[in-house]
Amino acid sequence: MFHSPIVPRVRKRSRTAEVCIPGREEVKFEDVRLFLVERKMGRSRRSFLTQLARSKGFIVEDVLSDVVTHVVSEDIHTSSLWTWLKECDLKNLTHMLVLDISWFTDSMREGRPVAVETKHLIQDSAPTLPEASTPTAVASVSQYACQRRTTTENNNKTFTDAFEVLAERYELNEIEGPCLAFRRAASVLKSLPWAVKSLGATQDLPCLGEHTKSVMEEILQNGRSFEVERILSDERFQTLKLFTSVFGVGPKTADKWYRRGLRSFSDVLADSSIQLNRMQQSGFLHYGDISRAVSKAEARALRNIIDEAVHAITPDAVLALTGGFRRGKEFGHDVDFIVTTPEPGDEETLIPKVINRLTKQGILLYTEYQASTFDMSKLPCHRFEAMDHFAKCFLILRLEGSQVEGGLHIAEGDSRGWRAVRVDLVSPPMDRYAFALLGWTGSRQFERDLRRYARMERRLLLDNHALYDKTKKEFLAATTEKDIFAHLGLEYIEPWQRNA
Ligand code: CTP
Ligand code: MN
Ligand code: MN
Repeated sequence: MFHSPIVPRVRKRSRTAEVCIPGREEVKFEDVRLFLVERKMGRSRRSFLTQLARSKGFIVEDVLSDVVTHVVSEDIHTSSLWTWLKECDLKNLTHMLVLDISWFTDSMREGRPVAVETKHLIQDSAPTLPEASTPTAVASVSQYACQRRTTTENNNKTFTDAFEVLAERYELNEIEGPCLAFRRAASVLKSLPWAVKSLGATQDLPCLGEHTKSVMEEILQNGRSFEVERILSDERFQTLKLFTSVFGVGPKTADKWYRRGLRSFSDVLADSSIQLNRMQQSGFLHYGDISRAVSKAEARALRNIIDEAVHAITPDAVLALTGGFRRGKEFGHDVDFIVTTPEPGDEETLIPKVINRLTKQGILLYTEYQASTFDMSKLPCHRFEAMDHFAKCFLILRLEGSQVEGGLHIAEGDSRGWRAVRVDLVSPPMDRYAFALLGWTGSRQFERDLRRYARMERRLLLDNHALYDKTKKEFLAATTEKDIFAHLGLEYIEPWQRNA
């Protein structure tokens, strides 16, 4: 949330602005909106500091509302401050930086908003759990992504991009432990409302091991990591990344092709001994389009298409956008939907009917349908399975530019007027809806940690189908995501805060 480096946008000074009307000073930092908390500070000091900040080009709001980005307080009683903040009925509180007066004085001295560091933050120390296993130190960051709020704004991208490369290298080599360790570390850094500027600032953070810290140290010192650069320039890594970027090609196939000496798509396509399956054929056929990100506007257009189809089939069908777009992402690699019907059993035939309809419309470029294998009597499943048992399909659809507000997200100069887009549909029975929605909203890391938290901290088994209490030996019912968080004893985390 803290936009750094801040580019001061200096408004042209007009004659009238030079006559200093209080509250009308030249604004230099439009991205930063301060609010000074009067408690402890007192009215006259607050008014003095407000004038001071405004004279230096800062925006200072008189009332605390959702437009505020930086809350500054002199109140050292963290808990009473936070209690007061939470009573202010703000939607945006989790996005605001709640800062000690030292950030304010540093910024006044520098004449600009200085970067927010850990030492400036006044963190909420209220326990999130009524009976947390070990209530740890004040203001601690949880080791579980489901106890952190992670928006799409990433203040530590240089580090998390590097960790992602390292995780991918281990994943391609099927070395699970370190792969997961780098994913967890990246996830912790993504949740921070501030940028890590020194290794010291990471001292109290969970999930950062020796290897992660040494990579961070390198980046802090040199702006880059040599280990990451070595991986990125490694021929095998590059080739496996290229091959697995094709729809239908997993790490095993990619490695097989690599070991055969193939290095490029033309090598693969020219090799007559290679039999591509249907999915891979479509993957190559539509490679340009489906390796290109899908925009929010394109996702909305697809929602309209699917909405029209399911409601033509069943007027009382339920449709929900899920996956990355539900988490507020601007772009995605596909668009994910849940479709279901109130009438039990009808959901099983819904997807085949949708497929039929899209085929007739001539917009279906690829379909892979998997019928439901869901059987409540086979639950709970003690071992997590990568795929759930609901009816689902993986599609490639033809999307017309005329249906997309603002046009298609395609290469400049591409004048086809349409593009291919990957779409996933899943169709759980209505009484499983909340579990499927929670499971398909992601992110993957958020889901992993929900299950890990449930198992480790609560003796509960969670998956896309159900929540099972191992102690009481019973299933826990839920009709909304909030019910599931409540069963888990977790504070509710909004979809847009699940970008772990
Ligand atoms: N998912 C799942 N079972 C599957 C496929 C996906 O539970 N068989 C879940 C994943 O855990 C993920 C979500 O559905 O959280 C969406 O998957 P995916 O489309 O791969 O990822 P997104 O988070 O939507 O990211 P992107 O924007 O790149 O599509
Ligand atoms: Mn998706
Ligand atoms: Mn998907």
